[in-house]
Amino acid sequence: MSTPVISATGLWTPPHSVSNEELVESFNAWSDKWNAEHAAEIEARSVEPKPQSSVEFIEKASGIKSRYVIDKSGVVDPDIMRPSIPERPNEEISVLAEIAVKAARQALEAAGRDPKDVDAVLCAASNMQRAYPAMAVEVQDALGIEGFAFDMNVACSSATFGIQTAADFVRSGSAKSVLMVNPEICSGHLNFTDRDSHFIFGDVATAVLIEAEEIAPANHWKILGTNLKTQFSNNIRNNFGFLNRAAPEGVGASDKLFVQEGRKVFKEVVPMVARMIQAELDRLGLQAPDLRRMWLHQANANMNRLIAAKVLGRDATPEESPTVLDTYANTSSAGSIIAFHKHQSDIAPGEKGLICSFGAGYSAGTVFVEKAA
Ligand code: COA
Repeated sequence: MSTPVISATGLWTPPHSVSNEELVESFNAWSDKWNAEHAAEIEARSVEPKPQSSVEFIEKASGIKSRYVIDKSGVVDPDIMRPSIPERPNEEISVLAEIAVKAARQALEAAGRDPKDVDAVLCAASNMQRAYPAMAVEVQDALGIEGFAFDMNVACSSATFGIQTAADFVRSGSAKSVLMVNPEICSGHLNFTDRDSHFIFGDVATAVLIEAEEIAPANHWKILGTNLKTQFSNNIRNNFGFLNRAAPEGVGASDKLFVQEGRKVFKEVVPMVARMIQAELDRLGLQAPDLRRMWLHQANANMNRLIAAKVLGRDATPEESPTVLDTYANTSSAGSIIAFHKHQSDIAPGEKGLICSFGAGYSAGTVFVEKAA
């Protein structure tokens, strides 16, 4: 039986960043226009006026200052309020696969791995842009990888579930090198006319190469243990699907895009994740001080502060629990992987850390790692 390790990671960041100021300006212009157009109904109290958003609220409530997006022009245009990402012909690579390939190439290069020696591709993300053929197969084809590939969706926890799935393939002997990619075009399923959530998400792609220890580069990460959990909740939903495929009517269509009860999510998920981390520490015979760093899911800065404090018994330093929320916002499954990718070069051999995700489902995953060399 082979021991699975993380050989390398990759990150692709879109070229366009949108600040809170820019996003709030377009939201408030849209809201003013909507209210003017519906003045009679608002006057008659048959509809509620659209509220104004606030830069100060967004930063205080979430820790987000800006986000990267694939298309900025549509998102900041009060007449459009959604990204303009043209549909591509079947002969062209899809946008989701394209950004996954960019992150994947970086991971393969960092590991010194020839794509021909990769056995499987998992595309693990919150929303696939079509049902089939799988985006993972498209990524596999673009990179010239043999073997097999499939898509999997566990919302914000897709990456940790992908790491465990890949690790299990390595353990069972069905693959020695598995490429797991997380292309997240969150701007495509965000309702930019919903004041309570229009600021939450950004776009990005990450990649993780999970391999058998014997073929991995020396500076790999040992996987000490993985643990996954799901527990049904209606508090984060996206009802878009093939049974209700009619495009949402104009901007502002509600449940076919991301919707959440943010407060409930906050209250229910924080204790669930803190308990899960503690139980896994116990199972692995580790203690919180053994962790040099926690690369937590990037949904909300206050949420991460609370989870880290519950685990450590005190506030974590930014060095112990780094954030990428300020510049990337919530990038769904990719968030903890971005943090891991960007904040790992100072970790010494033998030091341990935790990659942790949580989100819709509810779903949560922990991956405890140790730097090998
Ligand atoms: N601008 C100004 N005010 C806003 C606002 C905005 N953009 N959005 C909401 N508000 C208002 C609310 O209407 C509410 O007003 P009220 O008290 O008069 O009703 C007030 O600010 C507080 O809103 P609330 O939703 O309770 O804020 P919050 O502190 O819970 O923060 C979230 C909101 C979404 C940032 C936070 O709940 C969160 O991040 N939760 C976890 C989400 C999560 O992890 N989701 C997983 C997604 S994958």
